[in-house]
Amino acid sequence: MSSHGAPQPMISRKCGAISGVAEIPGDKSISHRALILGALSVGETRVTGLLEGGDVLDTAKAMRAFGAEINRMEDGEWRIFGVGVGGFAEPEDVIDCGNAGTGVRLIMGAMATTDIAVTFTGDASLRSRPMGRVTDPLALFGATAHGRSGGRLPLTMVGAQDPVPVRYTTPMPSAQVKSAVLLAGLNAPGETVVIEAEATRDHTERMLAGFGADISTEITDEGRVITLKGQPELTGQTIIVPRDPSSAAFPVVAALLVEGSDISLPNIGMNPTRAGLFEALKLMGADITFLNERLEGGEPVADLRVKYGPLKGITVPAENAASMIDEYPVLAVLAATASGITHMPGIKEMRVKECDRIDAMVQGLRACGVQIDETEDSMTIHGMDNIPGGATCKTHLDHRIAMSFMCLGMVAENPVKIDDAGAIETSFPDFIPLMETLGAKFAKLNG
Ligand code: S3P
Repeated sequence: MSSHGAPQPMISRKCGAISGVAEIPGDKSISHRALILGALSVGETRVTGLLEGGDVLDTAKAMRAFGAEINRMEDGEWRIFGVGVGGFAEPEDVIDCGNAGTGVRLIMGAMATTDIAVTFTGDASLRSRPMGRVTDPLALFGATAHGRSGGRLPLTMVGAQDPVPVRYTTPMPSAQVKSAVLLAGLNAPGETVVIEAEATRDHTERMLAGFGADISTEITDEGRVITLKGQPELTGQTIIVPRDPSSAAFPVVAALLVEGSDISLPNIGMNPTRAGLFEALKLMGADITFLNERLEGGEPVADLRVKYGPLKGITVPAENAASMIDEYPVLAVLAATASGITHMPGIKEMRVKECDRIDAMVQGLRACGVQIDETEDSMTIHGMDNIPGGATCKTHLDHRIAMSFMCLGMVAENPVKIDDAGAIETSFPDFIPLMETLGAKFAKLNG
């Protein structure tokens, strides 16, 4: 089932070369953060290019419930009038974050040092995901959380009355955990320090600095040590959201799958903490050019051109896993068509995403005739010339699993079906029509 209604089964048939310009929607990670920091600042924040997908719209709704005024202008610009650090009001009702792990975890952090009680819930996927990874460090500030077994949603968090600053080493590479702690640190006196052994996406740090917070990052033997001075006054900003490299991954991979393809993708976010996929694709021999590399609103951006060419299997560097963690499902599809074996080590975090993404890819790819092996923290894919396809792949309320198998159908000998395309709307609402414009052969099936 999709998060908001009946399942929407779809079919993807083998197609000819794809071509054209792929206009990708705004970055999901940056969009969540723009709304939350806009709500925590004083004055007006203007956001252009915000992702208008389910996940982000749920965060906008939540920020309104905490007292921020948020409006979408006719030209697509979003305007936020914030309540200031520590100014969150207690919402009158449950906060439903839908499918969004980023939304719920960042919002928990943002409210954990304000003396209010908030109950969070989400869809079946989000209710199955671990929240202890954020409620544990938030408890160090003085917040308390009461959830279901395993710390799962629905969960009520009571923010700290007298928050204390925290020094926290993240036990897993997670930008959501890091960001939750930093956002909580905003309303604690003194310095909050987060230490991460591996670099994860740094949009929160960049945006906090842009809003006027005193935040610094030092690279030490322990890893990245991020220090935030508490209780700043954040002031409203103008934010241009770059286009999401994680969404761009689908048309990029589709162009590399289908012989003769040639596509362009303008304005794609190129933050190095997100760019691991492009490094892996280069190692596989992909023909990708990065044009007009520039900085926009504090984030690196480039225009991409991608042309089909035969690829070879690789070992994807484990040290890059955090910078491409959401791209492994679609990379697994591409690896199935590359010559030789592709090994993907160090990807345990894939198991706690919108679904267990290793399991979902193993089941779906095997059903389509691909040889794939798994361990607790790796996948190994054996490339082949012709992928049989012909199966229905389960998507488990996971947008990236759904889009990955729709891409597989573009090159498989027999059509690939997915049981539900509903979740795609959370991050890439126009994925289906955009891919069809480029040349994909997708169709809805009767449920
Ligand atoms: C995100 C961080 C990643 C990523 C998710 C978005 C973020 O999760 O998988 O899609 O915006 O901070 P983790 O931080 O849990 O690895």
